[in-house]
Amino acid sequence: MEKKRIVSGMRPTGKLHLGHIHGALNNWRSLQRDYQCFYFIADWHALTSEYEHPEIIKETIKDILIDWVAVGLSPEESVIFVQSSIKEHAELHLILSMFTPLPWLERNPTYKEQLKEMAQRDLYTYGFLGYPVLQAADILMYKANGVPVGEDQSAHVELTREIARRFNHFYSNIFPLPETLLAPEAKILGTDRRKMSNSYNNAIFISDPQEVVSKTVAGMITDPQRARRSDPGRPDFCNVFTFHELYTDKEKVKEIDEACRRATIGCVECKQIMASNLNKALEPLREKRKELEGNPQLIEDIIHEGNKKARKIAQETMEEVREVVKI
Ligand code: TRP
Ligand code: SF4
Repeated sequence: MEKKRIVSGMRPTGKLHLGHIHGALNNWRSLQRDYQCFYFIADWHALTSEYEHPEIIKETIKDILIDWVAVGLSPEESVIFVQSSIKEHAELHLILSMFTPLPWLERNPTYKEQLKEMAQRDLYTYGFLGYPVLQAADILMYKANGVPVGEDQSAHVELTREIARRFNHFYSNIFPLPETLLAPEAKILGTDRRKMSNSYNNAIFISDPQEVVSKTVAGMITDPQRARRSDPGRPDFCNVFTFHELYTDKEKVKEIDEACRRATIGCVECKQIMASNLNKALEPLREKRKELEGNPQLIEDIIHEGNKKARKIAQETMEEVREVVKI
């Protein structure tokens, strides 16, 4: 039987960090076994907020692709591509925008939140309001059955279903209604215990060298109640411990848990152990990154091949769309 299709994208607004690994990429990697996956760099989406300084978009696209391949997204198994290389997305976005009711966009909770969160940017634009319509075009173009995203994006997938339903009703039933495949929640936080994010300066990047990782870990905030070495700690309230749960073997995690509660281990030592395990886990990714960085042609080829595969499907979909829309 044919594998079901999934589509997901990431905006190229900076380097990828551990939050991306645990919030999306590990999930994307394992989905490759059971689904035909389309993973793309959403550079037009990035432009909705970065339009004043678009350099960051170009600068990060290749870096992100390198990270993707380094963590195990496979250009053979999945279709890996760049949104703006497939102009059909823009055309479908335009057509969908003709019948998407404005109130659907205005009451979108993600929209309202982002306007508040990114108050330093002027996001009262036509393009930003239409962000989810473009996202619907991305998803419907490949007739996706599922969209693996975090909770913050589920409203957009819901909207995509509504848009697909409306299209199917007006013209012809050509789009499946995609399901949200909710990613397992990423428990890790940034070094300051806020959400890990490029803009908070609290991230550990996939591309960070060993010394940088060790130094960043040394600066992590621990259980705030453990002010002195002799104070017992609470691993459940400590972000360093969350990292241990991901990167340290089970036996040792148990040992650290007890030692922390009895104050027989200090945070400095605890962090050193964690940093060393984290570094061990990142080492193969660094090696893969180095290999890819040393071979720019390989990345070019990956993008080229991925774009070609995506474009072929996009062209087929658009032929169908134009026919039923009679344009
Ligand atoms: N809006 C998504 C985000 O910020 C990125 C995205 C764009 C996307 N198009 C998509 C995700 C299509 C899934 C499917 O994370
Ligand atoms: Fe956190 Fe480790 Fe310090 Fe306990 S000992 S508070 S787990 S860093």
